[in-house]
Amino acid sequence: MDKLIITGGGPIHGGVRIAGAKNSALPILAGTLLASSRVTIKNVPHLHDITTTMGLLGRMGVELVLNEGMVIEVDPTTIQTYSAPYELVKTMRASILVLGPLVARYGEAEVSLPGGCAIGQRPVNLHLEGLQAMGAEINVENGYIRAKAKRLKGTRLVLDLVTVTGTENLMMAAALADGETIIENAAREPEVVDLANFINAMGGKISGAGTDTLVIEGVEKLNGCEYSVMPDRIETGTYLVAAAMTGGSIMVKDTDPTILDAVLLKLEEAGATIETGDDWISLDMKGKRPKAVNIHTAPYPAFPTDMQAQFAALNCVADGVSTIKETVFENRFMHIHEMQRLGADIQLEGNTAIIRGVERLTGAPVMATDLRASASLVIAGLVAEGDTTIERIYHIDRGYDCIEEKFSSLGATIVRVPE
Ligand code: EPZ
Repeated sequence: MDKLIITGGGPIHGGVRIAGAKNSALPILAGTLLASSRVTIKNVPHLHDITTTMGLLGRMGVELVLNEGMVIEVDPTTIQTYSAPYELVKTMRASILVLGPLVARYGEAEVSLPGGCAIGQRPVNLHLEGLQAMGAEINVENGYIRAKAKRLKGTRLVLDLVTVTGTENLMMAAALADGETIIENAAREPEVVDLANFINAMGGKISGAGTDTLVIEGVEKLNGCEYSVMPDRIETGTYLVAAAMTGGSIMVKDTDPTILDAVLLKLEEAGATIETGDDWISLDMKGKRPKAVNIHTAPYPAFPTDMQAQFAALNCVADGVSTIKETVFENRFMHIHEMQRLGADIQLEGNTAIIRGVERLTGAPVMATDLRASASLVIAGLVAEGDTTIERIYHIDRGYDCIEEKFSSLGATIVRVPE
């Protein structure tokens, strides 16, 4: 397994282009299964999870053509089987997103039950209960979800918890159901909106996306279309935090400043000067050390849990004491133990981390445990004296395209070492 070695240095300066959003491209690729003809998806990020999803669809017999510039043509009409096997689902939990489309379009699905992961148990009970409420017969045995439905029926669903992929799975299922489905307490994430826009581009009738109440009028069929994936707000936030931590400056392009307000407000609170345009965000710390900021994660539009680890890294070297409260996942502090190895002063009390900023961290070998934790270790390495070696960086490659090239172009010293 490859390693990354980061040598701590001074402020980073420069510009990066943001790729398409991983957490939008994944449900949209699954959503192509709803179509009755060829679909073209543009601005797809070049990530391991995308490769896994293409492999999953390919295994089902779906024809995929990867064109220049990560444009993917999907012909779902060649599908042969309606199953997502364990060996693929265990590498990517988001494979559960084929469940709703398969049951809605083909009346059956066999999907391996996603296991937990480093950040939490992550059950999918709300996905299954919603499909059952729409008339699907669901059996879970031998680690597989087997679902059947002659035709799903629209109904009113009230989700116990805000669940992003739960909302997405049920919205996709409802798109081809008989009648109207209302989803209350729906997730409001921008990626849910992007998926709704994609389904509507195929002829779907979804309204309310971005609010907590979705109204989906089932249609008889969905046609192919051409759709471009939205920019990745978490990749955007990660590079902004990296520049803020190092006291540097950055111009982030091909992004959307309107989908990460909570993050931009926290960066300004940390002392950053931020300017925005239609598709860019600039941040300048003017050489200053960031001020510590308190973080409380919650569903969109509140502060995103996927940016929690990155701000933990910033607070480790910020001026002052801060608290980080993680309310979405029960075990999303694996990065904290690794940052303590770099000399961070952090106490964990239940779902709250109390961080006292230090002037400098010191480099050490650390272990990546999950996608965003590993990104936070990379940016911590930028401000740690000496070398920080990060192992198990396959976690990073799942969600960040060309991370070492992008950071090198910003003046960081970072190399990938094959093990
Ligand atoms: C999505 O995961 C994202 N993944 C995650 O990003 C993100 O952290 C998360 O939403 C929260 O924003 C994708 O979109 C592919 P949830 P998801 O269902 O949908 C509980 C990354 O780094 N829950 O919103 O799996 C669950 O345990 C990844 O890119 C149930 O109890 O998250 C959690 O505590 C990590 N039962 C909470 O809800 C269910 O049926 C929110 O989970 C579903 C969820």
